[in-house]
Amino acid sequence: MQKTNEKPSLETTTLWDFPKQNYGDNPHGDNKFNGVTPAFIIWNLIQRYTKEGDLVIDPMCGSGTTIDVCKEENRKVIGYDIAPHRKDIIKNDARKIPLEDNSTDFVFIDSPYSDNVKYSSDPRCIGKISCEKEEFFVALDMVAREIHRILKPTKVMAWLIGDQCKQKKFIPVGFRLYEMLTKYFVPIDLVCISRHNQTSNTPIWHERARRFNFYLRGFKYLLIMKK
Ligand SMILES: C[S@@+](CC[C@H](N)C(=O)[O-])C[C@H]1O[C@@H](n2cnc3c(N)ncnc32)[C@H](O)[C@@H]1O
Repeated sequence: MQKTNEKPSLETTTLWDFPKQNYGDNPHGDNKFNGVTPAFIIWNLIQRYTKEGDLVIDPMCGSGTTIDVCKEENRKVIGYDIAPHRKDIIKNDARKIPLEDNSTDFVFIDSPYSDNVKYSSDPRCIGKISCEKEEFFVALDMVAREIHRILKPTKVMAWLIGDQCKQKKFIPVGFRLYEMLTKYFVPIDLVCISRHNQTSNTPIWHERARRFNFYLRGFKYLLIMKK
């Protein structure tokens, strides 16, 4: 992965297109972790919605990208995960976060969006439930309620999520989650994150897409909402 000394700049458009997975000289999370969040997304949110000293929570922090970005930017941070990838991540189920009500300044979460990635063998991993089952959305609803409970009034959370299109069956996971979140939060923005290094951006996939008549989808939604 190409590294650069440059700090990213704040984008003013609502379509964020970033060629670099990472920035700076220090690692953020683990690029080999399946489903790692590009650090730039978290950096951008932290600049917009928090200030130095604020407490940031990531209830599903995977390889720890949120922790690394927040420490570098002098934010307090706690990263939880059902299957901690390293020692500074606390083992916890996101459906019950061990924090007091109204204690948190900002929440970032990049959750599973179906059972497409094997994260761990822990049976409580939400990534074991297909988004074709209602049970999947019930689990995300419990996480959303917890995020709402721990956030201070008027503070912001951002949730990264993708859709599923498998064997010609399309599940609009992003829109389902958006609708669900509006029960608890006030929407601020819905950002489309497109990725330059998509694994489907190859001649083989382009040919398959033409032959079987489907779109190559290379984006996720970033849902930004306020308590
Ligand atoms: C897309 S990954 C997060 C990637 C992370 N932001 C990073 O940059 O490495 C989703 C994470 O959700 C975690 N997860 C799944 N179910 C969970 C649950 N019930 N409670 C907490 N974490 C969970 C998985 O273990 C996985 O690490």
